[in-house]
Amino acid sequence: MITYTDRKNFDPAALLPIFEQSPWALGRTVAETARMVLSTDLLITAWDDGRLIGCGRVLTDYVYRASIWDVVVDSAYQGQDIGTEIIHQILNHSSLQRVELFWLCTRDKQAFYETLGFSAKEQTGMVWDRRKQRESPGYDERA
Ligand SMILES: CC(C)(COP(=O)(O)OP(=O)(O)OC[C@H]1O[C@@H](n2cnc3c(N)ncnc32)[C@H](O)[C@@H]1OP(=O)(O)O)[C@@H](O)C(=O)NCCC(=O)NCCS
Repeated sequence: MITYTDRKNFDPAALLPIFEQSPWALGRTVAETARMVLSTDLLITAWDDGRLIGCGRVLTDYVYRASIWDVVVDSAYQGQDIGTEIIHQILNHSSLQRVELFWLCTRDKQAFYETLGFSAKEQTGMVWDRRKQRESPGYDERA
């Protein structure tokens, strides 16, 4: 049976196998992932017994805005409504009931999010990518 939790008392290294399946999260380290978990306002994980098979996380002010990041389901478990349940757990979480607007960024999963009520019509995002900036002439790396 697949179970879901908002608790963070697990070894952060358990996230790395699913991050390795996500182009934007390749190469994340245990140390950085541990810090990420600690600093994340809400982390939902899905488990099959002791195996972490899905996640989704939220950064928020708990009132006006919440952004959703790193929604991933292990490829062996996709298509079983686990991604849907992770998003439902986020949107329905007791700590986020006052949040006015949830935002996320996706390259090619618009169809998945539209089934959950998200709209691409409202706004478009812009990003400042430190790794890409480092390759630009004139990038000023401050200590
Ligand atoms: C996107 C992702 C999280 C969806 O999780 P999932 O558990 O496979 O999705 P679900 O089983 O809950 O699917 C829910 C619905 O979305 C649809 N859907 C799922 N993945 C989809 C995709 N890649 N493209 C289009 N529709 C998709 C399903 O067909 C389903 O619709 P239905 O109920 O009408 O059949 C998962 O495919 C994944 O981890 N992909 C790789 C990482 C990624 O790209 N994450 C998104 C970052 S923004």
